[in-house]
Amino acid sequence: MKTRFLGNTGVRVSELCFGAMTFGGKGYWKNIGQVEQKEADEIVNMAIEGGINFFDTADVYSEGRSEEILGKALGNKRKDIVLATKVRGRTGAGPNDVGLSRKHIIDSCNGSLKRLGTEYIDLYHVHSFDPRTPLDETLRALDDLVREGKVRYIGASNFMGWQLMKALAISEKQNLEKFVTLQAFYSLIARDLENELVPLSLDQKLGILTWSPLGGGFLTGKYRRGKPRPEGARRSNPTDQFLQFDEEKGFDIVDELEKTARNHGATITQSALNYLLRKPGVTSVIIGAKNKEQLADNLKTMDWEMTAEEVSRLDELSKPPRVYPYWMLERMSLDR
Ligand SMILES: NC(=O)c1ccc[n+]([C@@H]2O[C@H](COP(=O)([O-])OP(=O)(O)OC[C@H]3O[C@@H](n4cnc5c(N)ncnc54)[C@H](OP(=O)(O)O)[C@@H]3O)[C@@H](O)[C@H]2O)c1
Repeated sequence: MKTRFLGNTGVRVSELCFGAMTFGGKGYWKNIGQVEQKEADEIVNMAIEGGINFFDTADVYSEGRSEEILGKALGNKRKDIVLATKVRGRTGAGPNDVGLSRKHIIDSCNGSLKRLGTEYIDLYHVHSFDPRTPLDETLRALDDLVREGKVRYIGASNFMGWQLMKALAISEKQNLEKFVTLQAFYSLIARDLENELVPLSLDQKLGILTWSPLGGGFLTGKYRRGKPRPEGARRSNPTDQFLQFDEEKGFDIVDELEKTARNHGATITQSALNYLLRKPGVTSVIIGAKNKEQLADNLKTMDWEMTAEEVSRLDELSKPPRVYPYWMLERMSLDR
């Protein structure tokens, strides 16, 4: 598997990152995956053998079980791995068990280190913006963690453009650690990121890490127009879905992905992942898998490359609506 530099750092990560959100099966995450230790050990070994050196989890996934299971599964292979986790979501009932205050960041980081069974986190993401905590407080706390050796790099996830740019400017002005990555929802069924956050990431040399690249399993071929939905899958029940997108448009994209897959003797899933690896700014695509069969399929994405023509056909078909001021600025730029 090829590797790419993690944003503007000197660290190299595999083009596919393994996301451990399917590990644990507790609470809200039960419907996403219920992978327990034995199967997780096999999945993690298979990912490493397939060339993956980059793993992602979060303090909240399965209420901490995902971190515990992933830490154990990595075992003594951990030193060769770039390990990422996150802070921001609610981890307890207390008023300070959530957010990006100095208090919660430090407590949550210590909790993650313990559950992961590691002395340091390679990449520590803030899981989303916290409107109640000044960014200066958050960035200073993250900077302290880096200086203490508990964290090596920091990243942002689920930020608006202005929030991310403001954070980068504060870090620059106060000589604090800067975010090196943006972890965001980026998929053929959701290209909103291209309006603001992709140009920002290119300009600021942030590495984009794409979450839910298959739209939670939608872009695998198991959901087709006019066909019954599969049972036991994340999107089996179309109501009450966390990821909202236009499924009708999605069915057209799946049809086109199938044509592309056929050209390469590949699968619809591999086509959807392959497309994202061709997009500017993307460092690594975070894949999710509930079992070894799914992982085996996803790993084969690396065996072939989508052509520029195939990418542009999919670009055209999945074009996001152009909102102001982006359409106007695009027009004005033609005049330069
Ligand atoms: N920062 C954030 O806010 C955020 C949010 C979400 C995720 N993430 C990260 O991104 C990672 C990936 O997210 P995701 O799990 O939503 O990714 P995804 O690729 O969109 O969906 C993965 C799901 O698709 C199905 N699937 C995967 N490969 C398949 C295959 N080859 N054939 C058939 N079905 C297949 C499985 O679900 P079914 O079998 O149930 O269909 C699997 O659990 C997570 O583990 C996490 O690390 C981050």
